[in-house]
Amino acid sequence: MHFFIVLCMISLYLCSDVFSECNIPSVLLEYTVANCKDKGLTSVPTNLPPDIKELDLSYNRLSRLDANVFLRYEYLEHLMLDNNVIRVLNKTAFISLSLLKYLSLSNNYLNVSDPYPSGVFRSLKNLLILDISRNMNTSEYNPYRIPVGELCNMREMSIDLVLNATFGQQFKNLHNLQNLRFDYCHVKILYNETFSDMPENIKEFHMTTCKAFVVIEIGVLIPFPHLKVLNFTNSNIHLTQALKILHPFQHKSMDAILFRGITRSNIERDLDVVVLTLEMMKYISTICIKTLDLADNQIVSVRNKALISFKHPNCFEYIMLSSNSFSLTTWGVNLFWFVFTMQKIKMIDFSYFPLRFKTPVFLDVVRVNNHTIIQRLQYQGRWG
Ligand SMILES: *[C@@H]1O[C@H](CO)[C@@H](O)[C@H](O)[C@H]1NC(C)=O
Ligand SMILES: *[C@@H]1O[C@H](CO)[C@@H](O)[C@H](O)[C@H]1NC(C)=O
Ligand SMILES: *[C@@H]1O[C@H](CO)[C@@H](O)[C@H](O)[C@H]1NC(C)=O
Ligand SMILES: *[C@@H]1O[C@H](CO)[C@@H](O)[C@H](O)[C@H]1NC(C)=O
Ligand SMILES: *[C@@H]1O[C@H](CO)[C@@H](O)[C@H](O)[C@H]1NC(C)=O
Ligand SMILES: *[C@@H]1O[C@H](CO)[C@@H](O)[C@H](O)[C@H]1NC(C)=O
Repeated sequence: MHFFIVLCMISLYLCSDVFSECNIPSVLLEYTVANCKDKGLTSVPTNLPPDIKELDLSYNRLSRLDANVFLRYEYLEHLMLDNNVIRVLNKTAFISLSLLKYLSLSNNYLNVSDPYPSGVFRSLKNLLILDISRNMNTSEYNPYRIPVGELCNMREMSIDLVLNATFGQQFKNLHNLQNLRFDYCHVKILYNETFSDMPENIKEFHMTTCKAFVVIEIGVLIPFPHLKVLNFTNSNIHLTQALKILHPFQHKSMDAILFRGITRSNIERDLDVVVLTLEMMKYISTICIKTLDLADNQIVSVRNKALISFKHPNCFEYIMLSSNSFSLTTWGVNLFWFVFTMQKIKMIDFSYFPLRFKTPVFLDVVRVNNHTIIQRLQYQGRWG
C-alpha cells in the first residue's frame, strides 16, 4: 500500500512537471495555447489540455514524430515544430489534425527525398501554410519525393531548393498554392523545366538565399503566368539575367518586382557591373509595376535614358534605386519630368549615390495581408 502511494505521488509529480514545463495561459478556464518553446523536450507532451488550439514545441530536442503523437490534440490549428532535430516521421504522426492550418517544421533534418512517408499529410485537409524550409543543408542531388499532393488546400509553402531540383507531378495537385518561398538554395542552374511541375496559379515567388551564382535559362518563369510578386532579394543571379527572364510578364500587371542586391561581379561568366540599356529593359518596361526595387545592384551607367523607358509610369507607387552609382548628368531633367507622369507615386528612394555608406538606412518592402508596405530598416546588405 505504502509502495503504491509513493508510486502514485511520483507519477503525479511527473505529470504536473511535464504539464508545467509548458506555459498554458488560461482565459476564462479555457486553455487554447500551450507554449512549450525551448524546454529541452525530447518527446511530445501527452498530458496537455486536449482542447488546445496552438502548440509551440519549437527549439526543443525532438528527434522523431512517432505514430499518433498528436491524437489527443484534435483541435490544434497551429503547430510549431521548428528548430528541433527531427529526422523521422511516422506515417500516422499527424493523424487527427484535420483542423490544422499552420505547420512549421523548418530547421530540422527532414530530407525532401526520404523521410516523408506517403500518407503522412493525408489528415491535414485544412492546412493552409507549410514551412519545411532549412532542412536540407547539403547540396546533394535529390528528387522531391515529399507527398505534398495530399495537401490540397495549401496556400503557402516554404521549402528548400536542392541541387538539380526535380519536383514531380505531386506538386501539380496544389491547386490552391499561391505563395512559394525557397529558403536554403543549393541550385547552380535553373532550367526551363525546373518549375514545370508547379501549379500555374502561383502569385508570389520568393527565392532569396542563393549565395552561389545561379545560371538561369530564360524560360524558367513561364510556368508562372499569374505571378504578382517576384522576390529575388540578395540572391546571386545578376541583374542582367533577372531582366531577361521577365518576358512572360510583358504587358501584364505586377505588385512587386524585388531585385535588390542581386548583382555580384562574376569574372567566369563575364558578368561585371551593370550598364543598363534599352535592350535589357525591353520586357520590364512593358509591365505595369506598383513596387520596383533595383537598389544595390552596381548599376554604374544608364544608356539612352533606359530607366525612363517604362510604358506605364502611372502604375508606380514605390521605386527604390538607392545604392547604385550611375550618373544623372545628361538626363536628370528627363527623369524629373518622367517622375511627374507617375500619378500614383508615393515614394522614390534615390539615396546613397554614389558613395557607399557604411550602414545605410534602407526603405524595405514588406507584404502585409496581400498589400505592399514600406518600412524604414537598417539594411544589413548582402554581405551582412
Ligand atoms: C509507425 O508506427 C507504427 C506503430 O508504432 C509502426 O508499426 C510502424 O512501423 C511505424 N512506421 C514507420 C514508417 O516508422
Ligand atoms: C537525402 O536522401 C537521399 C536519398 O536517400 C540521400 O542520397 C541523401 O544523402 C540525403 N540527404 C540528406 C541531406 O540527408
Ligand atoms: C549540416 O548539418 C550537419 C549536421 O547534420 C552539420 O554538422 C553541418 O555543419 C551542417 N552544414 C551546414 C553547411 O550547415
Ligand atoms: C546535376 O547538375 C550538374 C550541373 O549543375 C550536372 O553536372 C550533374 O550531372 C547533375 N546531376 C544529376 C544527377 O542530374
Ligand atoms: C528555354 O526557353 C526559352 C523560351 O521559351 C527558349 O527560347 C530557349 O531556347 C529555351 N532554352 C533551352 C535550353 O531549351
Ligand atoms: C523578399 O525576401 C526577403 C528576404 O527573404 C524578405 O525579407 C522580404 O520580406 C521579401 N519581400 C516581400 C515583399 O515579401
